[in-house]
Amino acid sequence: MTDKREALSELAAQKLVEQIRKKPNSNLGLPTGRTPVTMYRHIVRLSREFGLDWSEVHCFALDDYLETLEEYSFQKYLEKNLYQHIGISAANTHNPRFNDDYDQLIEKHGGLDLTVLGIGANGHIAFNEPGTPEASYTQCIWLDESSRNSLKGGFPEDSDVPTKAVTMGISTILSSKSIIMLAFGEEKKEILKRAFDNGVDPTIPASFLVLHKNVSILTDCD
Ligand code: GLP
Repeated sequence: MTDKREALSELAAQKLVEQIRKKPNSNLGLPTGRTPVTMYRHIVRLSREFGLDWSEVHCFALDDYLETLEEYSFQKYLEKNLYQHIGISAANTHNPRFNDDYDQLIEKHGGLDLTVLGIGANGHIAFNEPGTPEASYTQCIWLDESSRNSLKGGFPEDSDVPTKAVTMGISTILSSKSIIMLAFGEEKKEILKRAFDNGVDPTIPASFLVLHKNVSILTDCD
C-alpha cells in the first residue's frame, strides 16, 4: 500500500467516523473489493480509539453476488473486515440479498447519510453496469464479462465467478446525502478521467455522480 493510498484510506475512515459521531444513527452505504480493505482497517482502529457507539448505526451493503458460495459473498467480506470488529448488531446490518424492498428499507431508516463507493474497471458503481439508467433502484443484474474477468482473482476457478448480482441502483446511490469514492492505481486513472471529464455518460455509470452535490473523490491517480 503506497503512503498516499494509506493516507486516503485513513481520510475516508475519518470521514465515516466523523459522520457517526455527528449523527449517532447514521445510515451508511458500504462497498467491498480490494480498494476499501485499508479503509476498513482504519475504521476499526479509530472505532476502538474513540470507543465509537455503533448501537444506532445502520450499515447497508451496496451489493452482493447471487448464487455463489457464502464464503465468497460480500456479506462475509463486510463481517470479516468490519462487522465482527465493531460489535454492531446483525439487525443493524443490511444486504440487498436478504431484503426484498431494499430502497424502502433505506427510506424507512431515513435515507443514506454517507455512501462509500469504489469504481469498476468499466466504470460501474456498486454493480450498476454500463447502460444502467439513472432511474434505477435496487435490482438483480447480470454481470458484464469485463466485470467477471476482473473478479476472477477472488475465486478458485474461473467457472466459480458469479454471473449475477443484486445491487443498489444509481438513484439509490444518488439519494445518499454524501458520497465518497475511493479509486487507487493506474488501472483506475483512465476510467476516472472518462467518468468525470465529460458529463453524464450512461455507458459509464460512475459519471452519474457529476449530478450529486456532495461527492469526494479520493484517488492517488494524479
Ligand atoms: C466490484 C464491486 C464494486 C467495487 C469494484 C471494484 O465490482 N461491486 O463495488 O467498486 O468491484 O473493486 P476493487 O476495489 O477491487 O477494484
